[in-house]
Amino acid sequence: MKNRPVHIRWVNALPRRHLLPLDTTVHWAFRHTRHTIERDGVPAVIHLHGGHNDPGSDGHPDAWYTATGVHGPRYAGDRFCYGNTQQAATLWYHDHTLGLTRLSVYAGLAGFYFLRDWHELSLMKRNHLPQGPYECELLLQDRMFSPDGRLAYPDVPAPAADWPGGPSIQPEVFGQVLLVNGKAWPYLEVEPRQYRLRLLNGSNSRFFRLSFGGSWPIPVTQIGTEGGFLPRPLPLDKPLLLSPGERVDLVADFRHHGGSRFTLTNDAPTPFPGGAPAAPPADQVLQFRVSRPLDERVPEPELPSRLRAAPVSLTSEPARTRRLLLFEIEDQYGRTKPQLGTVEKGVLAWSDPVTENPTVDTAEVWEIFNTTADNHPIHLHLVRFSVLGRATFTADQDPRTGALSRIHLGGNRPPDPTEQGPKDTVQAPPGQVTRIRAYFDKRGLYPWHCHMLEHEDHEMMRNFHVGRRGRR
Ligand code: C2O
Ligand code: CU
Ligand code: CU
Repeated sequence: MKNRPVHIRWVNALPRRHLLPLDTTVHWAFRHTRHTIERDGVPAVIHLHGGHNDPGSDGHPDAWYTATGVHGPRYAGDRFCYGNTQQAATLWYHDHTLGLTRLSVYAGLAGFYFLRDWHELSLMKRNHLPQGPYECELLLQDRMFSPDGRLAYPDVPAPAADWPGGPSIQPEVFGQVLLVNGKAWPYLEVEPRQYRLRLLNGSNSRFFRLSFGGSWPIPVTQIGTEGGFLPRPLPLDKPLLLSPGERVDLVADFRHHGGSRFTLTNDAPTPFPGGAPAAPPADQVLQFRVSRPLDERVPEPELPSRLRAAPVSLTSEPARTRRLLLFEIEDQYGRTKPQLGTVEKGVLAWSDPVTENPTVDTAEVWEIFNTTADNHPIHLHLVRFSVLGRATFTADQDPRTGALSRIHLGGNRPPDPTEQGPKDTVQAPPGQVTRIRAYFDKRGLYPWHCHMLEHEDHEMMRNFHVGRRGRR
């Protein structure tokens, strides 16, 4: 519930062995230390994604700790306070340990965290939203399994002459088995009525493009984004694209369809958008079976015409505009390494000094120039932002650093209607600049990163620092 703080002690009781193959050549928790997983246990730290928390409760990648009490340079204890000061939203928590996030999330360390507020409760009280058993959370993930049924993750070495041995991180990982809430080949038995479906793409790298076989044969209405409600209900008229880390709040209307079945399908290429077309079985997500009798005692809700009082907009003028860069380099073993950076400086490593340093209680516009071939879901901690739009661009690019000059911008395209709510993760398509506006209202150091976990773990992640007024 909003404004009711939650205090959590996250206990690390993980064993002295990781379930999945580790790459010790990327930046990771125990790098440049004498610790080993065999001796000290698996390091972990939980981040509440979408949370509006102080830095000590954010779950920074360097705030990891082990069962034996070993911890990272930004460790701030194992007690976390979640203030819950923002509006009703679909949050989730997951491991965020430096260089291990892809493995520990894949192994299962992820879950939902729903926040309610009085506004949402009043919508529910006036029967404007499906509720109780008619509100369902759906966590979408793709996985691989070995023939004996165990969870599998690629453990191949890098094809490099000087490779030191051991498994290598992959540019992306796509499982062919789609899971919903941890179940393979899932189905959901529903009544012929409206259901509120709260979707999260919790995959490592996979985008989903969702529909019922290419269209929406029954009414499906979007009511929210990551950080809360859309201004008004949005009936979907095209497949819905959901990138890793993104959430969407839907109402599906199964009325008058007793006895029917609807299969939620996926036709997003991997990687998105230029990769291989979605192939069976990864083209089927979840089957809805309208097989339950209608419980006549429960009145059918009616969606309101407006979901929030005012459109999401920030009153203050942005204090500045930053131009940020997505660019791909090769690491020392010749592996593709997508990176963040700035337009002026080019790519910057996780360990390079902070360049994004907003002043507390100011708004900023971030323009994310994507010069790679992939769409990258960009996530900022601490804030909810609005998507201002996108534009194509051409520029001269330094082939080594990626720095851009002589940029020519196309006209601004407004955000997709499905993005017009509070967001914390945004799709940055290739060849385009994606513009967002955020209001930074807590001081301290927070990460921003690509939410494809293989990218994040291979350093497509930087810190931003929100500083005091009068200091830059
Ligand atoms: Cu969902 Cu920094 O993460
Ligand atoms: Cu986050
Ligand atoms: Cu990425």
